[in-house]
Amino acid sequence: MNFFLRAAGTRNILRNVNLANPPAGRRKPKFSPDSHVILVKFGIPSESRDKGIYQQHKIGETCLVSKIIEVRNFTKTYGDQVAVDNISFDVDEGSIFAFLGPNGAGKTTTINTLCTILEKTTGSLKIAGHDVNTDQAKVRRDIGIVFQESTLDNNLTVEENLRLHCDFYNVPREDVRERIGFSLDLVGLLDWQKAMVKSLSGGMKRRVEIARGLVHFPKVLFLDEPTTGLDPQTRANIWDYICTVQKQKNMTIFMTTHYMDEAEICDKVAIIDHGKIVAFDTPSHLKRLHTSDIVKIKTSARDELREYLRTKDFSFTEAGDMFVVHSRSIGETLDLLSQRKDSITDFEVHKGTLNEVFIAITGKEIRK
Ligand SMILES: Nc1ncnc2c1ncn2[C@@H]1O[C@H](COP(=O)(O)OP(=O)(O)OP(=O)(O)O)[C@@H](O)[C@H]1O
Ligand SMILES: [Mg+2]
Repeated sequence: MNFFLRAAGTRNILRNVNLANPPAGRRKPKFSPDSHVILVKFGIPSESRDKGIYQQHKIGETCLVSKIIEVRNFTKTYGDQVAVDNISFDVDEGSIFAFLGPNGAGKTTTINTLCTILEKTTGSLKIAGHDVNTDQAKVRRDIGIVFQESTLDNNLTVEENLRLHCDFYNVPREDVRERIGFSLDLVGLLDWQKAMVKSLSGGMKRRVEIARGLVHFPKVLFLDEPTTGLDPQTRANIWDYICTVQKQKNMTIFMTTHYMDEAEICDKVAIIDHGKIVAFDTPSHLKRLHTSDIVKIKTSARDELREYLRTKDFSFTEAGDMFVVHSRSIGETLDLLSQRKDSITDFEVHKGTLNEVFIAITGKEIRK
């Protein structure tokens, strides 16, 4: 049985290990049938762990990557309206997870229920093993949230906003200054701590909210549409910050978005539509399942290319002097291009996107 081996505190998958037959001299790690990843604590400094190559270190204590979020048969209704309809999913600790869906799909309702702000109608929702209904205080201790709408106090400084949050989460008094500095540094706003929030741009305010969401070092950071309405450059910067935080703290990120490119960088994506999860997988696997690559080819030998495509059972159309070919795999694309390379005068390959996945599954664009 092959499992992924990961270094504790990093997201780096180091190599596959065969648990049934571990390398000579290695202790056979413990695992449970529910787990698909084995976490290995190397007991070595983080710098060397980051460069980490499995063979250089001895396996020490082993432990399992847990499902930090567990949702089972969750339904939420508002009166007669079903906002979330019997969904079940898990999120791995230390991963970046996205809820991708159109307006009104039920994303915020799910996040707010997980964050103990809303009450479920039925089902079970747990964070780090704590039930969001019966263990609210423990759940709140473990989470940070950046709401869809801004909740900063505009009439306070950046630092004051974060300090209030530290008080709220009982961050030890002696750690507050350092935590605020660390969080603001991560989002590139260390020099702005004394600025009034109302004097900041929209993108900077969003970054302050992210810093505030993580200042108490939550296990799970919920980000509800963290970049909506921001320009592409600011969006890209915010993503850099989020990824940095995630790596540095091995934090689990649960985010919602309309933006396909943002969902691309996530470890797993749940596509939600009308309150139901219609797909749940890694972005690459979703694309492989639901889209094909499009290869556009110009050739000096059209009859021969047409004949080749028919023989190999490709689906294709011709538009002027261009062949538009649907390829089922990278290997097929490479074969096609190499076999016909002498007569190909130009080509371009268009990879499937999550937008196409969404259309393939729901029959509509994510933004109507
Ligand atoms: N307080 C409420 N009362 C009644 N209906 C609500 C309430 N909040 C949300 N809804 C409805 O529940 C459904 C899901 O809403 P939700 O806010 O969870 O969607 P969303 O996926 O976050 O959408 P968006 O992308 O627009 O933020 C929608 O149809 C919405 O109109
Ligand atoms: Mg929402």
